[in-house]
Amino acid sequence: MKIKTLLAGVAAGAMIIGLSACSSGAGGGDSTSAAKGDGGLVGVAMPTKSSERWIQDGDAVKKQLEDAGYKVDLQYAEDDIPTQVSQIENMITKGAEALIVASIDGTTLTSVLQDAKDAKIPVIAYDRLIRDTENVDYYASFDNFKVGQQQAWSLLNGLGLTELDGTAKSGAPAGPFNIELFAGSPDDNNATFFFNGAMDVLQPYIDKKILVVGSGQTDFQQVATLRWDGEVAQSRMEDILTSTYSDGTKKVNGVLSPYDGLSRGIISALTDAGYTVGASWPIISGQDSELDSVKAINAGEQYATIFKDTRQLAKVAVDMATALLQGNTPETNNTKDYDNGKKVVPSFLLDSQIVVKDNIKEVLVDSGYWTEAEITG
Ligand code: BGC
Repeated sequence: MKIKTLLAGVAAGAMIIGLSACSSGAGGGDSTSAAKGDGGLVGVAMPTKSSERWIQDGDAVKKQLEDAGYKVDLQYAEDDIPTQVSQIENMITKGAEALIVASIDGTTLTSVLQDAKDAKIPVIAYDRLIRDTENVDYYASFDNFKVGQQQAWSLLNGLGLTELDGTAKSGAPAGPFNIELFAGSPDDNNATFFFNGAMDVLQPYIDKKILVVGSGQTDFQQVATLRWDGEVAQSRMEDILTSTYSDGTKKVNGVLSPYDGLSRGIISALTDAGYTVGASWPIISGQDSELDSVKAINAGEQYATIFKDTRQLAKVAVDMATALLQGNTPETNNTKDYDNGKKVVPSFLLDSQIVVKDNIKEVLVDSGYWTEAEITG
């Protein structure tokens, strides 16, 4: 307790120094913020290096904080909850002045974030909402319901039913198309937002029997994939192919996948079951624009992914942290949708884009996210 009291004093002192160093203006991330940073430590907790996107997030947050004059303790927890809790505990002990946290399980940080609160350390939930605690100050993410809608629109587009923005195509085929549904990790708040967004789009087509979920598995709990694990998705897809499609009377025409890593597992299951890329290869969605999946889109294995620019997300989170450290109020654009069970967390939500083969260059290359050589190499 003594250490915490001392730390609270240090943190409060640091905030006061930060405050007096700050003249006016909101947030960092611009050229003036470098001068404002007080050289203090910001703790950045990321879930895992097993997915490319979190490496890009971590790198971008670290760079932008360092450019703004802060020191950074960046940690990855390899999807192990106790590891993430102890990493955050260490950041508090080391005197972090702010925490940026992309949680593994959004419900498991209540106790460690009470320690952060006791030490007066502001907490920003990064991309994934932290649940069941008062002690999360701001949330930086994307419009996650919309991401789910975009995943469903990309699936419908691949099947010839709608434009990429969901507008119905005239003369669209009547179907029925056989689809299967996958959702993300049930302990990640985003997974429900993605799934609800997608089902908001797909349900009317299911009701009209234009789409048929062959396995009949449509509940979130049935289709969720713990820890977003591609192997879990692969084996569920294998089971579905065996139970529902192995008598040769019908084929899978489309798969709603909420993340590129799951899409790759699903593609492996399909390939192993004898599906080949070509006319009767299913339409498969994704998310994150991971390099291997962008290549898979180019090769016709995956139909679409979602581009969420991790550099922009990092900027939002870093701006929030620097604003708080300088005694300013972070900019938000949503104060109603992200109730974490204890409070509605003020949020800044970014827009995402659908990527298909035709717009890879425009969306991913022209924005400098991937180079042409990386995609084709
Ligand atoms: C993120 C997605 C990501 C998924 C798996 C979610 O919380 O919002 O972008 O695909 O986690 O890492």
